[in-house]
Amino acid sequence: MTLRRATLALTASAVLAAGLTAGPSALSQTADAPATTARRGPDTLFPLQGNAGYDVRSYDVSMDYAPLTNLADAAVTIRATARKRLTSFHLDFAGPTISTVVVGGRPAAYRRDGDELIVTPATAVPQGRFTTVVTYSGEPPEYTDADGSTEGWVRTTDGAVALGEPVGAMTWLPSNNTPADKATYTYRISVPNSYEVAANGDLVSRDTVGSSTTWTWRSSDPMSTYLAMIAIGQFTMTTAETTSIDGRTIPIWSFEDVPTGAAASAKALLPEVLAFEEKHFGPYPFTSTGLVVDNAMVGYALETQSRPFYPPGGADDLTVVHEMAHQWYGDSVTLRDWHDIWLAEGFATYAEWMWDGAHGGDTPRQHFDDLYATPESGALWRPAPRKFTDSADLFGSPVYNRGAMTLQALRMRIGNADFATFLKAWARAHRHGSASTADLVRLAEKVSGQELSPLFRTWLDVAGKPKGY
Ligand code: TRP
Ligand code: ZN
Repeated sequence: MTLRRATLALTASAVLAAGLTAGPSALSQTADAPATTARRGPDTLFPLQGNAGYDVRSYDVSMDYAPLTNLADAAVTIRATARKRLTSFHLDFAGPTISTVVVGGRPAAYRRDGDELIVTPATAVPQGRFTTVVTYSGEPPEYTDADGSTEGWVRTTDGAVALGEPVGAMTWLPSNNTPADKATYTYRISVPNSYEVAANGDLVSRDTVGSSTTWTWRSSDPMSTYLAMIAIGQFTMTTAETTSIDGRTIPIWSFEDVPTGAAASAKALLPEVLAFEEKHFGPYPFTSTGLVVDNAMVGYALETQSRPFYPPGGADDLTVVHEMAHQWYGDSVTLRDWHDIWLAEGFATYAEWMWDGAHGGDTPRQHFDDLYATPESGALWRPAPRKFTDSADLFGSPVYNRGAMTLQALRMRIGNADFATFLKAWARAHRHGSASTADLVRLAEKVSGQELSPLFRTWLDVAGKPKGY
């Protein structure tokens, strides 16, 4: 397909201006020099994902998308900072055919090896800032996880939705696909006029030229790749607003493509959930919110940043509470390593318990007691929340339920007042950042003045039911 949009045409002329006559893959490959090559991933669960040699500052995604054929023409600009001189570097990419890779305005050599895109710039990138533009065309694929679930560029009845937990963002976004590297995003997505585009962050503009409308969304708060979301379809879009606890006006942009009424109760509840969570967790971390109820048969909801995604019929009250709690815990305060996924799911599950207890249901203590009473042989007790070795266990009962129990065990140890302080302090200390379990233990110890590493070790690192609490 040809690149129709002005921004894409600019990219193409930049390639021409750089004097490209042969295709980039015709350029000779520079041998990887270990001392200057960013190759090794920083994550312990997905060693092939991500690269520690550079840090992405922003992704700019310009895409022309055709809903009927699911074909995309895209130019992705990646502004990054090299931690050292790089003779070559790896991006994660499982998307369709690449037409060009340009580094610092000059065509670069590249090759693909599985989900790795190995780029060798014409001259080494010095330490510091550099810009890479990847253009590609075709149908971005879905991606099947170890647990059999579907993510990536997921086809829907009227378009597609991009869902990326844990690794599916690479199906459409050439990226440093690891949660530790957070960046800002600008999306410019062009679709036929009868379609809508939802994405993360703030809706900046909608510009119609002829039969095509370009939707520009910007996430100026940093975001991990797994939280990036683009939903394209024929949605009903609604606009509303609420006020945050610190007095900011928070626009609410919501999109529903399933006329079941399932989104209506979630939309109505959203401001109340936001207020409840701000009371317990502190100010809402982002500049806008909303929801997307999309006809995608994925069987899970996802805490896509600032604008969670729900499958048809999947936006019940507790799920909204859960996905919104992730905005503080997971999205703003993000696990640096996938083995710390309990920092997201344990907190979001605990938020459900808090909501339940405050609305006539079981209190967190009752949820804890019920779970503690389940037999030693149950799936809850092994592997320990941080000790799984198979990514199929990322969304298992130990991570969610035993993760939430860990917080209740902490609460019973340090008391309600210190626990309430701790919840807010954790959200504030690592706001828009990355964190680890070690950071959390240190903070809990600081707040309470108690030695807590044995408690966390017992609850998070040792398989089997803890003997007491
Ligand atoms: N993180 C999602 C949530 O808890 C759940 C999720 C994402 C999931 N991908 C999944 C659950 C795959 C099961 C399988 O809101
Ligand atoms: Zn969750």
